Amino acid sequence: MNTRSGATVLVVGGGGREHAIAWRLSRSDRVGRVLVGPGNAGTAAEPGCENIPLDVSDTTAIVATAQRTAADLVIIGPEGPLVAGAVDALLSAGIPAFGPSAAAARLEGSKSHCKEFLVRHHIPTGRASAHSDESSALGALRDFDEPPVVKASGLAAGKGVIMAETFDEAAEAIRAILVDGRFGDAGIELLLEERLRGTEISVLAFCDGNRWELMPAAQDHKRLLAGDQGPNTGGMGAFVPSPVADASVIAEIERTVIRPTIVGMASEGRPYRGVLYAGLMLTDDGPKVIEFNCRFGDPETQVVLPLLESDPLDVFEACAVGSLDGVDLRWSRDAAVTVVMASAGYPGSGSASVPIDGLIEAAATGCTVFHAGTRIGADGGVFTSGGRVLSVTAVSPSLKEAALRAHAAVGTIGFEGSQHRNDIALATAEVSR
Ligand code: AMP
Ligand code: GLY
Repeated sequence: MNTRSGATVLVVGGGGREHAIAWRLSRSDRVGRVLVGPGNAGTAAEPGCENIPLDVSDTTAIVATAQRTAADLVIIGPEGPLVAGAVDALLSAGIPAFGPSAAAARLEGSKSHCKEFLVRHHIPTGRASAHSDESSALGALRDFDEPPVVKASGLAAGKGVIMAETFDEAAEAIRAILVDGRFGDAGIELLLEERLRGTEISVLAFCDGNRWELMPAAQDHKRLLAGDQGPNTGGMGAFVPSPVADASVIAEIERTVIRPTIVGMASEGRPYRGVLYAGLMLTDDGPKVIEFNCRFGDPETQVVLPLLESDPLDVFEACAVGSLDGVDLRWSRDAAVTVVMASAGYPGSGSASVPIDGLIEAAATGCTVFHAGTRIGADGGVFTSGGRVLSVTAVSPSLKEAALRAHAAVGTIGFEGSQHRNDIALATAEVSR
């Protein structure tokens, strides 16, 4: 690696998560150039970052772009290319790449496969059964005391989970997935899963295949509307620290979930490298796995990476091609809150592209605006181009202060039809500090 002039890092993706990864890398003394493919209006304007056209679903194009730009490291943001084998292809071409192999990424790529892994390794999780035919799934409803959660097994862009409130709704969801094909191939198989009750947290770990280092546990807000109402989304805001994730809870998660997963994956001949994201429910019977993701969370990354004090390239390289043994992972003890702003109609699709005002004013508050669905218009202005448009992160010594600052900065940003939650982190901040 050419450390004198600084490394070239290619970040694959164009969401808020990738903006946060690129933003943090651009602050490393070891990094010369951060390329983001395809990026967004925020990464285009980020000092030290440059956008590069890229179709993230085209593995050949990812490898060719890495070769053409002489990238020293490629970081894959979204799950799609990981499940499709982008890291395997890059490594075969001799290019260091951060993220799990396709074999390891199946933990996210197939929920039924993930459930089998969890059961095989005695990792706590909700009871579930997998079905690919309607009558077997409808019959299995009898095995549940209350309506189960109905999940398309494959990748469905965070939309494949139906939280049925009644058995009739569960039956309807089964038909929508298996008969009507609502999620296409992702719904060829589905999972019926016991509904877990408790507080949900996201525990992410950097992994090198054998070792892991936990990131500060984050809490996401999955529902669209304040007070946890409305449909599930990709995430409307997140915060760190989570007051429910105290040291003993984290130690239990490490012992019962993270350790057996890393050890189990290595023993199955597919050592886990990259980020392991455990979505967990803290139930009365202890932490249980809701799902694994094979990548950073969005919007969790927008609160976790601003707290990373160690050199990010050291950490990413250690996971990709080295060992975490020699890495001194340090985190700020500050709190961080991010509030997502989404387009009209989100989490549905297809809203018009409209101009965004107030970005400069928001940045002037000292908060960081991470872009997601944004693009630069012909007039040089910033326009919306997608469901989740951006998220505003504040870092402060207390959770309450961070929450108030993030919400205040969101108030300076405006675009037609914008949606955001006005309660992100606030209920928790009131009771915790
Ligand atoms: P998943 O894609 O499996 O993470 O599901 C998306 C969201 O649905 C999760 O973050 C939870 O909020 C919710 N969810 C999924 N499965 C369950 C479950 N078994 N019990 C309760 N909530 C769930
Ligand atoms: N915030 C949830 C996810 O990244 O899947």
